[in-house]
Amino acid sequence: MTAAAVAKVSDIPPGKMRPVEVDGLRVALCNVDGKIYAIEDVCTHDDGPLGEGQLVDGQAECPRHGARFDVKSGQATRMPAIMPVRTFPVRVEGDSIYVEVGHGD
Ligand code: FES
Repeated sequence: MTAAAVAKVSDIPPGKMRPVEVDGLRVALCNVDGKIYAIEDVCTHDDGPLGEGQLVDGQAECPRHGARFDVKSGQATRMPAIMPVRTFPVRVEGDSIYVEVGHGD
């Protein structure tokens, strides 16, 4: 497991997402009502960049074909995606966001 400060909370307003790279992985940081979540920034439908889409009711909407994923669980909530995206543990210290990405799977 690796911990790295990847962004600042103040850079991601509530209701917004921001794509970052953590140890070579594309990760989308999502601010839902002031709490930060991290999901893999690769849509399971056809690799769309989720972090460039919209955050709708706590779900990341893919900008390519409109699939949605619950950012807390990673579960796909709208077609055309079926498989979940990975989620990653987030730690906030002051204004700094740390994301743990494992490479074990
Ligand atoms: S690539 Fe995300 S919905 Fe198609």
